[in-house]
Amino acid sequence: MRILALTDGSVRSATAVDAFDGRMQVDMHVPLAPLPKDMSKPDIVILSFEEFPAFGVKPLLAWMEKYDLSQKPRILCMPRSITRQYSASVRMIADKTLPLPVRSEVVLDTVQRMDTRLPQIRKQGRNETVATVHRTARRFISAFSSDQGDAGTTVLALSAATKEVCTALDNDGLGDWLSEVNKYHSSTARHCMIVAAFASIWARQLGVNDRDLQLFTCGALLHDIGKMRIPLSILDKQGDLLEPEEQAIIETHPLEGKRILETAQNINPVIIDLAYSHHERLDGSGYPRGLEGNDINNMVRCLTIVDIYATLVDPGAVGGAMHPDEAFAYLQSIPEKVDRDLVGAFRSVVDIHIAQIVSSNATDDADGDNAANADEGDVADAEEGDVADADVDDMGVEAVSSVDDASDAVSNIDDAGDDADDNKAA
Ligand SMILES: [Fe+2]
Ligand SMILES: [Fe+2]
Repeated sequence: MRILALTDGSVRSATAVDAFDGRMQVDMHVPLAPLPKDMSKPDIVILSFEEFPAFGVKPLLAWMEKYDLSQKPRILCMPRSITRQYSASVRMIADKTLPLPVRSEVVLDTVQRMDTRLPQIRKQGRNETVATVHRTARRFISAFSSDQGDAGTTVLALSAATKEVCTALDNDGLGDWLSEVNKYHSSTARHCMIVAAFASIWARQLGVNDRDLQLFTCGALLHDIGKMRIPLSILDKQGDLLEPEEQAIIETHPLEGKRILETAQNINPVIIDLAYSHHERLDGSGYPRGLEGNDINNMVRCLTIVDIYATLVDPGAVGGAMHPDEAFAYLQSIPEKVDRDLVGAFRSVVDIHIAQIVSSNATDDADGDNAANADEGDVADAEEGDVADADVDDMGVEAVSSVDDASDAVSNIDDAGDDADDNKAA
């Protein structure tokens, strides 16, 4: 069973579906943006709006008709005063209305009455990692889908989520996190959560203390927060190359991120720097400032590596995901842009990622024996890793690993050269 939650992008509207965390799939979407194909067959539609939709009821009805949503059971959550004011329109939009703010358990009960399959699902209980992914995703989806989003609230919510993100990865590992994150259609939300996962795993591998672990993970979660200021039509553009003027707009997001974070409360300057500088490259070819070499600190260098890698292995990316080995080889192929030693130290994370893929394939595989052997071996290799070669220096991460024969590993990937990743990893 799956639910399509149509919201106006506000945090309050998204909380209407809180109770579904870990119980069933909820696809979040903002009308009237195009509905991705695989979101188009929900069992129930929940509309949750803080205000009456500015685009009006007729376009909304036409949009729902276009995507065959009009015949689905529909629940509308909206403040009671607005529901009363627009009662005639409300009757056309939904079968059932609930006052916003609404306890999400009430929404759950309403769904239960509308679809009898729900009681079985409710008995399944919650998985904390799944719940954490959903909570984090909703914060991102609100941020990246509403041009009226309250940046300060979003930053605080994401910043506060860092600890539970780290805990989920510590307790359940990369596999549970990625499999849940990959269900999300918002490319920016998914990207930020994947970057945060690899960042957190890497920091753990490097043996940093909890404070630095959370600092780096928080920086990863917030690194693209400047995209709140980029129109959704550009952010979600897929399949087509961005026009030069659109690329220029995308490239404003590090500066926008810096501005947003500077106005938020209690944000560590290190996190602001990560957002501002993660597209800088050692050879000066990055943006927004064209910093070079030693002007780029180690923490930023690490995040840049994670950012590029996460983009290349994202299954939702245009053209599909690269295999971790291919993505790693790509990183090795651009030593003029990213720190070669740190790329070498990142290999331990790549190994964990590969082990996770082998493990999840093994789980899916009916021939358990072979799969289990492969799983065991790879996990052991991954855990040996190169971690011991790396060290942490205060807030910065100082890699002292030597990378053996990076050139041998360099790829058969076509040299996408000038940061092909940047279009994707922007
Ligand atoms: Fe990014
Ligand atoms: Fe970025």
